[in-house]
Amino acid sequence: MSKTFPLLATSLGGVALVLGIAYGVTSRQHRDAEIDMLQRQVASIEARRAAEAEIVSREAALNERIAELETALAAAQEEAERAASEATALAAAAASARASPAAEAPAEVAVSFGDPTAGEEVFMSCSGCHQVGQGAEDGIGPQLNGIFGRDAAGIEGFPYSQSLTRMGADGLVWTLETLDAYIENPLALVSGTRMSFDGLPDPQERADLLAFLRIYSDSPANIPEAPATATATDHDLDPEILAIQGDPEYGEYLAGECVTCHQASGANQGIPSITLWPEEAFVVAMHAYKQQLRPHPVMQMIAGRLNNEEIAALAAYFGQLSE
Ligand code: HEC
Ligand code: HEC
Repeated sequence: MSKTFPLLATSLGGVALVLGIAYGVTSRQHRDAEIDMLQRQVASIEARRAAEAEIVSREAALNERIAELETALAAAQEEAERAASEATALAAAAASARASPAAEAPAEVAVSFGDPTAGEEVFMSCSGCHQVGQGAEDGIGPQLNGIFGRDAAGIEGFPYSQSLTRMGADGLVWTLETLDAYIENPLALVSGTRMSFDGLPDPQERADLLAFLRIYSDSPANIPEAPATATATDHDLDPEILAIQGDPEYGEYLAGECVTCHQASGANQGIPSITLWPEEAFVVAMHAYKQQLRPHPVMQMIAGRLNNEEIAALAAYFGQLSE
């Protein structure tokens, strides 16, 4: 036993050593594998973190871009609102300037509008009927002193036509613009005027003539800055509008609105007759309301709602209407 024990012990020790080494080897391999796996896990976690960080930073960048776009949008909206309100203001200013050129037109709009010396010669075509200057008296036509800013048909005692008297009562005032329209074509502004004068088609002659007449108005020194002489706009009617052939049947349909005031029979009870007019004169008259050269507010509104075809149709209908 004493001999076998050490042997046994030795061999046991050897087995244990072998086992121990084997165990050590396997456990190291095991541990290496584990470390390897852990490292891979760590790496994948790190990769995921990096990806997450990337997403977060992209999100931040996107948010920043969205904020930028929102600011830009707000600015654009503000700009649009401002532009819209400016446009409204401009439209209102334009409308009021049209409605009362004398009162509203700012002085800067005034234009240097003619040569009074040349205008004195042009006045020869008026002087058969009109006088102007010191001691001027009414003749066939009323005297023209102070004509700028004067009410139409404003000379007491002068036998004006019913048509001009009515326009005066409506508030027609002589300004650079209305005088220019009247002298260019008297019947276009005042359909029933007694002034038998064909009109001056040349704008320069009219400008010169008006510069001459302006001398005999209240403040000749202000030519042309005085408000009554500011803003002449182009009121010539486009020949294309005059050329439109109206459809009388459509005109008859539209006329329903008109005959509540204008008797279809042409009967004249304070409201002028509009039947049997030459079509062109009718169209010109309607556009004079539409352009607010003629002052009557109801007719301005009515004509303002009609387009060119409708006006032509009404002219065609009323033009052929017999009593
Ligand atoms: C054939 C005569 C005649 C000629 C030419 C004539 N007129 Fe007249 N004019 C009249 C008559 C008449 C009236 C009144 C019209 C009415 O009552 O409808 C008048 C009215 C006017 C009025 C409106 C006056 C007011 O008190 O409301 C002005 C302005 C005017 N004429 C300017 C002129 C000018 C400028 C010329 C020259 C380019 C001219 N006339 C040529 C006869 C004439
Ligand atoms: C609410 C009543 C009323 C209605 C509706 C009306 N008018 Fe008038 N119209 C008048 C008055 C008032 C006048 C005179 C205005 C003036 O002094 O300039 C007039 C003048 C006119 C004139 C110029 C007459 C002239 O001798 O200078 C024409 C053209 C005219 N109207 C056409 C029409 C047409 C076309 C319609 C329908 C689309 C119409 N009117 C609807 C009241 C009306």
